[in-house]
Amino acid sequence: MPRRPAHHPAEAASTRNSSPASELSTQPIRPLSPDVPTALLGNLSPSQFMRRYWQKKPLLIRQAMPNIEAPLSRDQLFALADQDEVEARLITHFRNKWQLEHGPFAPDELPSVTQRAWTLLVQGVDLHDDRARALLDRFRFVPDARLDDLMISYASDGGGVGPHFDSYDVFLLQVKGKRRWRISAQKDLTLQAGLPLKVLQNFEPEEEWVLEPGDMLYLPPHIAHDGTAEGECMTCSIGFRAPSEGELAAQFLYYLAERGEAAGKAGALYRDPRQSAVERPAELPPALVERVGAILARIKWNEQDIASFLGTYLSEPKPSVVFDPPHRPLNEARFIGAARKSGLRLDRKTNLLYESRFFFVNGEEISLDGTKKWLFDFANQRCMSAKRFVTLSHDSSVTARLHEWYCAGWIQVGELA
Ligand code: SIN
Ligand code: CO
Repeated sequence: MPRRPAHHPAEAASTRNSSPASELSTQPIRPLSPDVPTALLGNLSPSQFMRRYWQKKPLLIRQAMPNIEAPLSRDQLFALADQDEVEARLITHFRNKWQLEHGPFAPDELPSVTQRAWTLLVQGVDLHDDRARALLDRFRFVPDARLDDLMISYASDGGGVGPHFDSYDVFLLQVKGKRRWRISAQKDLTLQAGLPLKVLQNFEPEEEWVLEPGDMLYLPPHIAHDGTAEGECMTCSIGFRAPSEGELAAQFLYYLAERGEAAGKAGALYRDPRQSAVERPAELPPALVERVGAILARIKWNEQDIASFLGTYLSEPKPSVVFDPPHRPLNEARFIGAARKSGLRLDRKTNLLYESRFFFVNGEEISLDGTKKWLFDFANQRCMSAKRFVTLSHDSSVTARLHEWYCAGWIQVGELA
């Protein structure tokens, strides 16, 4: 299925290749806590934030995450940008000229960190690093269906991607060094022509701040913004996807067609026993147009079809994603033993969504008999305690399913990463 584009900034998503990525984090990661610390949203509760700011207006939050450390060091980020399956872009603004290159980048292909005005953007870091995934999880007061990815940018002094706007909501979290952000709610979003990236022709900043580590700026779609590094810096950008209406409609029709249910009688052939001889052979027969109109009018769907489409579509991993199945998987009995001791967690690349009693994992709708409470909780918490697993482990249909997911690399043994 064609994919939605990656979120921001500035230009089209690049092609992603695939092969397993290395594990970067060594520190244990705590599972999602149901409480969002009040500092994260500047003393607003998630509901207050959603009501007052989400999709409405920018919000600067000083010390949203005090003592934050970059999930990856500069060298780890550069190493990630050297991997085939990672989407990385290099944007330079040397001698007043914007240039864009797509990765992977070997270390000697990046400019020196002492050179001014360049930036490296690495998309989807949450897929490759558990600390980055844990950071993304802090934003799960927004539905997973909207959560896209965590991008990390490294910029040398003066670096940035130029004034632009994104079509997506984004939290820009400063994690190292300082960045000056200037923003504007201007109506004129005309772009400079002939550049390899989206740079606004007339940027008229209305507000300006220097963000330090722990500070965060929320921007709704279409707010013009420009972030310039003051000294070298790193920024995490937590982005939210928003498929266009046209894309949703096209994908839904594709989904119906794939299920072979669009036109009811999938195998029926067009027939024209009453077709007379024609003098204008190039003309489409009016009866053909009429008949096809009748076929299309028979396309029917209900709410469940829409939910199934959305669940499979939105839980589908990005094309670059390759799961890493265990090299020597435990057999089911040993897997059960291990999970009874240490619990389970979803792999950081796994998407597990549900709608009423229907579940979708990594692009597949799953059918389950019996109780599903455990799966609701697994989906929402992304982990399962050993104690909880023990209560389930007498149900062989559940353990067989979980073992299957473990063998596919979709879940891992151990409640914490
Ligand atoms: C953005 O403007 O969307 C992020 C760019 C950056 O981190 O440099
Ligand atoms: Co942007």
